[in-house]
Amino acid sequence: MQQKGIGITITQHILNQQRENPEATGAFTTLLTELLVAGKVISREVNKAGLVDILGDTGKINVQDEEVQKLDLFANQVIIQRMQHIGQLCCMGSEEDPELIRIPSDYPKGNYILLFDPLDGSSNIDVNISIGTIFGIYRIKDSDHKGNPTIKDVLQPGIEQVAAGYFIYGSSTIMVYTTGKGTGVHGFTLFPSVGEFLLSHKDIRIPSRGKIYSVNESYVHYWDNKTKALIEYFKTRDKETSRPYTARYVGSLVADFHRNLLKGGIFMYPADQKDPKKPTGKLRLMVEANPLAMVAREAGGYASDGHGPILDISPTALHQRVPLYIGSKEDVLLAESFISGKRS
Ligand code: AHG
Ligand code: MN
Ligand code: MN
Repeated sequence: MQQKGIGITITQHILNQQRENPEATGAFTTLLTELLVAGKVISREVNKAGLVDILGDTGKINVQDEEVQKLDLFANQVIIQRMQHIGQLCCMGSEEDPELIRIPSDYPKGNYILLFDPLDGSSNIDVNISIGTIFGIYRIKDSDHKGNPTIKDVLQPGIEQVAAGYFIYGSSTIMVYTTGKGTGVHGFTLFPSVGEFLLSHKDIRIPSRGKIYSVNESYVHYWDNKTKALIEYFKTRDKETSRPYTARYVGSLVADFHRNLLKGGIFMYPADQKDPKKPTGKLRLMVEANPLAMVAREAGGYASDGHGPILDISPTALHQRVPLYIGSKEDVLLAESFISGKRS
């Protein structure tokens, strides 16, 4: 059951966790602390997005062939500029940058790798709907490489993440993260007048089964029959299994995921035939699926590509896309049984 914690700041929480781990050097604490500053800066900018000339397109197209809006670029720059100087990272990877982001030669390097989607749900910026930042943190396997890491050092399966989480800039700003290994998933809400994140959602557990399905159903004609059968299952009337489920789709992965994490349910972005260049769906393995998969798993949920765990996929490219089924464990296992053809 979720408890309301009063007055515990995220810094206190991180330090408490660090004390429980005798091997911790504090490097990781520094990293998370700086990421929180970046989150606060982005949050402030999102909140005034309607007031200043920060809305609208830049006219540029990002590496994923999508329109880049100004706030995406702003968020990207804030994270890079804040994180590059702390001495704990050997490189970064962002949805907005085609290549690895290197740490400038005059800054010290560390053993961690930060992968992120600086602004998720960017089509919702202009219309005051929740958006977010998603991040996953890895450790470089061969620390001799930290001076000059290659893409090989970065392409680790999601199971290797040492931490992952997200910020949501919504009716309030919330940061949710986990460091895995049974330490739990915790949520912190930004108290704007104090400028601190306070523990608001201690040890989040996702219900084993939900009542919500989240998918962009307008793509039904791009789906194969297995995917169609799965979505039909959630819509079919059946008293015993409390169907139909209810549909909720914000169009910001981070917001759809967060709602389902708290309430239970499944988010799906299946493979589709919409764009022959992207036959594996839209979402990115490294900066979207893996971090949320780690959060889901640590909260008792599950994430699959329809055939097996997202976290077990060996990536082949930084901007690789995957089909994603994520949320309540029973719902995702059911989705897997449809997509892998064990059930129809
Ligand atoms: P981003 O804004 O980082 O490019 O991500 C957008 C993603 C994700 O947030 C959301 O779930 C999905 O796009 C929505 O896509 P559709 O409009 O195709 O449903
Ligand atoms: Mn995104
Ligand atoms: Mn994005």
